[in-house]
Amino acid sequence: MKLAAVPFFALVSGVFGHWCWPALDSTAEWTVVRKTDNFQTRNPIQNVTSPNFTCYNGNGGSATAPSTYTIAAGANVTFQTDNNMYHIGVLNVYMAKAPTTAAAFDGKGQVWFKIFQISGVADPTGTNYPEFPATGLYAATFPIPKNVPSGEYLLRTEYIALHDAYYFGGAQFYIGCAQIAVTGGGNGTPSPLVSIPGVYTGNEPGIIYDVYRDPKQTSYIQPGPAVWTG
Ligand SMILES: *[C@@H]1O[C@H](CO)[C@@H](O)[C@H](O)[C@H]1NC(C)=O
Ligand SMILES: *[C@@H]1O[C@H](CO)[C@@H](O)[C@H](O)[C@H]1NC(C)=O
Ligand SMILES: *[C@@H]1O[C@H](CO)[C@@H](O)[C@H](O)[C@H]1NC(C)=O
Repeated sequence: MKLAAVPFFALVSGVFGHWCWPALDSTAEWTVVRKTDNFQTRNPIQNVTSPNFTCYNGNGGSATAPSTYTIAAGANVTFQTDNNMYHIGVLNVYMAKAPTTAAAFDGKGQVWFKIFQISGVADPTGTNYPEFPATGLYAATFPIPKNVPSGEYLLRTEYIALHDAYYFGGAQFYIGCAQIAVTGGGNGTPSPLVSIPGVYTGNEPGIIYDVYRDPKQTSYIQPGPAVWTG
């Protein structure tokens, strides 16, 4: 029984372990990403209007990260998880420019713009269930827009797990905020700008969504503003 217990436990932690977003590229965990309140439980946040929804840090996590990560505009960056994002879902990545330093910025106000997303793809004929290509990833890789002005930013990733999202508050949000310094940027004007919390009410059709519904869903509408590609 002892031998059988090991793989069983490994399976349980893989299935129920959930995940955090503790690093960028090859940084050590929680050095450039603010430690989220769920760094031990890895539980999602389900209240999109909570002040915790900005960066989910500060009530057990940490308000700032020890360092700020330098990255060139136009280069790709990888936001790393500590487990496979096995729940069916979609991804959004936002940035917000810090008035001074990223470390000193709480991300409040209408300051966030979206730079990347991986949405769901529904079959318009309703023959097949919708597909969610972000599902199962261990990381998200995306470019910092090349025309974003140089300076310090918060970089916020958000995976929306939809496996239980058929009711209000059922979608699970896995979020993380990194502190970054963008070099070699341009003169772009990122838009549209949204507040986080504020960007969602929780009633959006891409947040209350029954993945497994019959008749099958024929569309999926990604939550949040359009991506600013710079
Ligand atoms: C924010 O999260 C903490 C735990 O991380 C929790 O104790 C608190 O109730 C949350 N606040 C709100 C408004 O949901
Ligand atoms: C979500 O957070 C808001 C703002 O803190 C609070 O008013 C509301 O009661 C919370 N909802 C739930 C279901 O906890
Ligand atoms: C950069 O990220 C984009 C978006 O995920 C991806 O399509 C592309 O392959 C990445 N490029 C490199 C060199 O990793």
